[in-house]
Amino acid sequence: MLAPKWLENSVIYEIYPQSFYDTNGDGIGDLQGIIAKLDYVKSLGCDVLWLNPCFESPFQDGGYDISDFYKVAPRYGTNEDLWELFDKAHKKGMKVVLDLVAGHTSIEHPFFKESCKSTPNEYSNYYVWSDDWILRNPDPRYRYINGYAPRNGNYLTNFFYCQPALNYGFSEPEYPWEKRPEHPDCLKVREMMLDVMKFYLNHGCDGFRVDMASSLIKGKNNYPDIKKLWEYYRNEVKKINPDAVLISEWSNPPQAIGAGFDVDFMIHIGRTGYVRTFRNELKRIPGTYLATDTPSFFDKNSSGNSKNLNDDILVNLSETKGKGYIAIPTGNHDMGRIRQYRDFDDMKNVFAYIFTVPGVPVIYYGDEIGMDYVYGLESKEGGYWRTGARTPMQWSNSRNGGFSSGNEADLYLPIDKLNLAENNVETQEKDENSLLNFTRKLIEIRKSNSALGNLGEYHEVFASDSECPHLFLRSSDTQKVLCGFNPSLRNVVKELPNNFELRSDFKELLVNNAELVITKDKITVTMKPNSFFIIEV
Ligand code: GLC
Repeated sequence: MLAPKWLENSVIYEIYPQSFYDTNGDGIGDLQGIIAKLDYVKSLGCDVLWLNPCFESPFQDGGYDISDFYKVAPRYGTNEDLWELFDKAHKKGMKVVLDLVAGHTSIEHPFFKESCKSTPNEYSNYYVWSDDWILRNPDPRYRYINGYAPRNGNYLTNFFYCQPALNYGFSEPEYPWEKRPEHPDCLKVREMMLDVMKFYLNHGCDGFRVDMASSLIKGKNNYPDIKKLWEYYRNEVKKINPDAVLISEWSNPPQAIGAGFDVDFMIHIGRTGYVRTFRNELKRIPGTYLATDTPSFFDKNSSGNSKNLNDDILVNLSETKGKGYIAIPTGNHDMGRIRQYRDFDDMKNVFAYIFTVPGVPVIYYGDEIGMDYVYGLESKEGGYWRTGARTPMQWSNSRNGGFSSGNEADLYLPIDKLNLAENNVETQEKDENSLLNFTRKLIEIRKSNSALGNLGEYHEVFASDSECPHLFLRSSDTQKVLCGFNPSLRNVVKELPNNFELRSDFKELLVNNAELVITKDKITVTMKPNSFFIIEV
């Protein structure tokens, strides 16, 4: 395996810093808050933190618009707090991964401000500026912002208008302002970002989750150039810390891992992939993209369609084998909450799935206590509909959900009061059947059974276009584990294939309303509505 050894057994926990834990009473989460909660994260069985960007920013896109790559945003603390977090996490055997927003800066970044000037200067080509025909978007494939600066021309943006694209070059230049990646101006940008990586690695950071990793180099047929860029970065990163990890927001594991990443999120993949498999709300919330009339597999009205996801997993695993990992997260800061339209039983079913599939599992903060999506919030810092999935972590059923001692009016976002009594850490700690303790149990089972580990093999046993259950086998050299899921409201009975080998002393690792029925000539899986099983066979 090319990826670092420690990934074989790790589980990632994503923290949106502004919403995790506030220690200075200003209503916004901070780095000292993350330090204070390290033991909690560790108690889940998670050993890697991924922090969303925590750097100086005007926060027009939740911090994905950086104005100083080298400085922690004062609202989160100081650089020294970040070094302290690295140190304390390491002492507890944990890793800290930062978000590298490599593709763009904020419009407030001093380089961009220089680049806006009409007099040519060192930074003029740090960003992509079209010619001086300022009222046109030169090409519908790109979004150029018109009329922003004294400089004659339009700048290319990656996301919002306030996130101008850094100029890493174009694979097949088509316009006079497009330069090849090896142009000295583009190489300057490349080195500038490498310097940022080195700065944090040298202070003890364990790697990066790279924002929009596939899009740094633009233009037609850009994969070979992007691959070259990431191979270069990977090589440099590993020189400083051979154990550092590179995780991509790419949603194409074969490409991402082929380009040098160790882990890629499997989110918007294939014909159905993550989004259509878990996101119940897509067919229910008007205006969300990818709206579909077919219920997702993990839905009470399940379409029974596990085939697409199963096929996606098989293809992505086979193409990345021995090189890197897929990662199927419980959620992230860009989607609705997985809890939406689900009760705790549904959550247990879908979590049982997420924590038994291969790859590196990722928990989005609060999903482990079933935090819900909060409707009706005004967009906060460029969150728009994502805002409802970014509300403060609920630590207890007390004032401000135990998130902050500050004034309620100052909270980054309101606490989800409607669901606070049930969805909080303190209450769920005391209940052995809570989702929190269930999540801990699942992770423990995953970590103590090699077949279920991040590297364990995955084999389809039953996946259909229209029929529950979904069954798969995980295996290692020493163990086999059969996993089954019936999220629907129907009882299902499924005969295992004739050649299925079952030990007579098979062992139930975790079972909910399901059983294996063995008769002389066949083995049958019998599953009640909303059930699952994880059985060592
Ligand atoms: C990524 C981030 C998202 C951000 C965007 C622009 O998709 O996850 O939150 O808005 O990139 O940086």
